Amino acid sequence: MTMQEKAAGRVASVMQEDRVFPPPAEFSSRARIGSMAAYQKLYDEAKNDLEGFWHARAQTLPWSTPYAKVLDWNPPHAKWFVGGRINASAACLDHQIATGKGGKTALVWVGEPTGERREFTFEQLHAEVCRVAAGLQKLGIQPGQVVSIYMPMTPELVIAMLACARIGAVHSVIFGGFSSEAIADRNQDAKAVAVITADGGWRRGAQLPLKKNVDDALKSAAHEPTSVKNVIVLKRTGQAVDMVAGRDVWWHDLVAGQPADTPPVAMDSEAPLFILYTSGSTGKPKGIKHTTGGYILWAKTTAEWVFDLRDDDLFWCTADCGWITGHSYVTYGPLAAGASILIYEGAPNAPHEGRFWEIIEQEKPTIFYTAPTAIRSFMKWGMQHIEGHDLSSLRLLGTVGEGINPEAWIWYHEVIGGKRCPIVDTWWQTETGGIMMSPLPGCTPTKPGSCTLPLPGVCPEIVDAAGHPVEKGEGGWLVMTKPWPGMLRGIWGDDARFVETYWSRVPGKYLAGDNARQDKDGYYWIMGRIDDVLNVAGHRLSTIEIESALVSHPSVAEAAAVGRPHDVKGEAVAVFVTLRDGEPTDALKDVLRKHVRHQIGALAAPDDIHFTASLPKTRSGKIMRRLLRDIAAGKETVGDTTTLEDYSVLAKLRGDQE
Ligand code: WT7
Repeated sequence: MTMQEKAAGRVASVMQEDRVFPPPAEFSSRARIGSMAAYQKLYDEAKNDLEGFWHARAQTLPWSTPYAKVLDWNPPHAKWFVGGRINASAACLDHQIATGKGGKTALVWVGEPTGERREFTFEQLHAEVCRVAAGLQKLGIQPGQVVSIYMPMTPELVIAMLACARIGAVHSVIFGGFSSEAIADRNQDAKAVAVITADGGWRRGAQLPLKKNVDDALKSAAHEPTSVKNVIVLKRTGQAVDMVAGRDVWWHDLVAGQPADTPPVAMDSEAPLFILYTSGSTGKPKGIKHTTGGYILWAKTTAEWVFDLRDDDLFWCTADCGWITGHSYVTYGPLAAGASILIYEGAPNAPHEGRFWEIIEQEKPTIFYTAPTAIRSFMKWGMQHIEGHDLSSLRLLGTVGEGINPEAWIWYHEVIGGKRCPIVDTWWQTETGGIMMSPLPGCTPTKPGSCTLPLPGVCPEIVDAAGHPVEKGEGGWLVMTKPWPGMLRGIWGDDARFVETYWSRVPGKYLAGDNARQDKDGYYWIMGRIDDVLNVAGHRLSTIEIESALVSHPSVAEAAAVGRPHDVKGEAVAVFVTLRDGEPTDALKDVLRKHVRHQIGALAAPDDIHFTASLPKTRSGKIMRRLLRDIAAGKETVGDTTTLEDYSVLAKLRGDQE
């Protein structure tokens, strides 16, 4: 067993398999789905009549034109709610106002410089969204055109997403930690016509140069000519920025005098709602395409089931809207369910490591949804930052992004949840649009480290390389055998890659890219990726992308990137580099780190750089990643090397470990 498997919780999970936490009785008695019998009934209903099941659920959405058919399944292409028309921003805002929730709090925002706070009712959020929507229309942005959004985690980020949705424009949110080159790649791939950004953002007291990054992206020589006609700039930090006449417009000027009742454009159920770029095992990031009707139903229904949303809940999902979690469980899911959301702009350890607990004490969220990497940081920072804060408002905790190691689960349960809050460990992906497997907090007994069971309408299977289901207890590839409303509809502009990546290795089934195992109770345990995708602090990174970034530096001849276990981030990035010229010095390591930061973003910057005379390859020329992983992890005995092309390479590599 490798250290990586250990880090993924495999060893611990085997030990924890029999440790079961039943849902608290008080919770079950009030929950939407309050017993395993009720869950099983729903699950069977969906399994036996998928279309009837989703037809019944879709009645809760405000369709402007009813659909003619629930599902048109032409594998691997699905159309949900065929012929129906709906607007996602109307489902989140107008629908709540129409059903009497206009005066209810929709969004509470806490800013990074301590003391900043804003609150919006559904009516107020609606008005803001309408003004921005009208402003975008005035710029000439048409339904179906792509708008990139590169913003700090402010209310305006949520407003920008909903404003795009309102006019039928397709948003492509780019996480604020990505570099100008990454913005340029995404603008070009999506043919974005506009970018919505801010002068800057706050991060641990420093100002991020967001507008400057956008300017650099638009000047990028490799991406000429740019499709971007306009840049909309929110004044956030007040830092100096260059405004290009005729192209750039301030947000406050764009919305000035615009109406607060811009009508939503009724979009086809299958019209793209957004693109979100994510890393795959090959090439550039791929634009995952989500459409309107099925996605909004999936985000809303899963939010209601998994977080058991009630009218008096305040839901704090700590994800940035730059990731899918921020799309589905900050913006679309909770708002379409009429829930109040809490968002926070800053880092958990600024100005101090108790910031999250201070916010919980002040704002009193009832549901808290975060990532295992954050939980491991909290554990490391220590109890002194938590003690003394009143966390009693919390009733439910969630985790997402990677497997949670049982130690962290137990700590989360005891320290943050005061032993009274159920934990939902939610497995899903950018591609799935929303949660696929998770406990239901009112009924599913939980086991630390397991995402437990599929939601109704989700049909997972674990198969071997030949596509045959494996025995219970055995590991294999996780696939989905049936379509679901929130599934990705494609990769933007590359249908061949969509078919190839997700539907070809196991024909006719959706290949998630994860290894998994089912225990004797049928519970699912995720055991890490099957490909060369890394999960660093819950962020998906492609080894190839990091390697390409390194090789684009003139000093680098060849590069190999692998993950190694890291106690907070889960995985850290380790790279092995052979040089074309230059000396293998610490100074060059710094240069290469900066280079990757510039090419992709800080989140991809290598933690360890090993210079080596050559890379270990098999006779067929493939880099031996397993071997490099062992070396990166500092393992004493490295794996089987009989297929090594050149045994001396190994000695050289080992010699390089200082
Ligand atoms: C990959 C998807 C889903 C939003 C955040 C990440 C891993 C995600 C879990 C979990 C074990 C998990 C998987 C998956 N993953 N949640 N609860 N247990 N692994 O979205 O960037 O698309 O990454 O994250 O490996 O395939 P993403």
